Amino acid sequence: MPQLTMTQAPIGIFDSGYGGLTILSEIRKALPQYDYIYLGDNARAPYGTRSFEIVYKFTLEAVQYLFDRGCQLVILACNTASAKALRTIQQNDLPHIDPQRRVLGVIRPTVEALSRISNNGNIGLLGTPGTIQSGSYTAEVHKLYPKFNVYGQACPMWVPLIENNETDNEGTDYFVGKYISELMTQESNIDTVILGCTHYPLLYNLIRKHLPAHINILSQGSLVADSLKDYLARHPEMEERCSTHGTCTYLTTESERKFADTAALFLQDNITAQKIELG
Ligand code: DGL
Repeated sequence: MPQLTMTQAPIGIFDSGYGGLTILSEIRKALPQYDYIYLGDNARAPYGTRSFEIVYKFTLEAVQYLFDRGCQLVILACNTASAKALRTIQQNDLPHIDPQRRVLGVIRPTVEALSRISNNGNIGLLGTPGTIQSGSYTAEVHKLYPKFNVYGQACPMWVPLIENNETDNEGTDYFVGKYISELMTQESNIDTVILGCTHYPLLYNLIRKHLPAHINILSQGSLVADSLKDYLARHPEMEERCSTHGTCTYLTTESERKFADTAALFLQDNITAQKIELG
């Protein structure tokens, strides 16, 4: 019998732009042995203010591109894409494209952590307008914890401020204070706040400053990394298809130079990127 050769490929990590780098860093810390391809659709970001149809279309194009590069497993390291496109891709597209491949998101691993952290079940959610309007977090929380309450607060100014490297000044302090105060006006008895956008860890210090000290802040990177580790341990058939040379390739739909410069803010590291086209 001839030996069947197994296709091994990097794990794909997709985000609308730079935010997914906060997830990638934690995944690489937890699982350094694998190869990764990071794809940022910077030319068409932000996704946070776009419609369902467009976020789904763009995300599917990115997933298809990563599949064409051989990826067997793709992580949507973007809350907006996870909220607006993941279910449809998993349920409607994957069965036709390739039922053996997998696409996973960031919402489920984040929500699973809530029972370990929240005491009173009053959860604040900070996210892009798209993530908040989608209701995806609320639906996922209620699946696991029907009695929990979710208070969503859209923070439309935060992603542009972060991407322009304005994370530490009075203007940003104002906009962090403004959205936190709007969140706390909805419900003052919140005990846990989810940073439901992969960009927001860069505003952690300001968010911490404006939130009452007893409130827990849930940052997603390590939760998604632990969940992926667990997934690969439970799915040896997928683990065997992930290549292991410890490399990371960075792809962007915008200029390579611009991507490398801004990525340095998220990774505290110098990288090189390649430009690709989607769509
Ligand atoms: N990284 C995206 C998220 O986690 C937000 C950025 C965007 O609006 O494109 O939702």
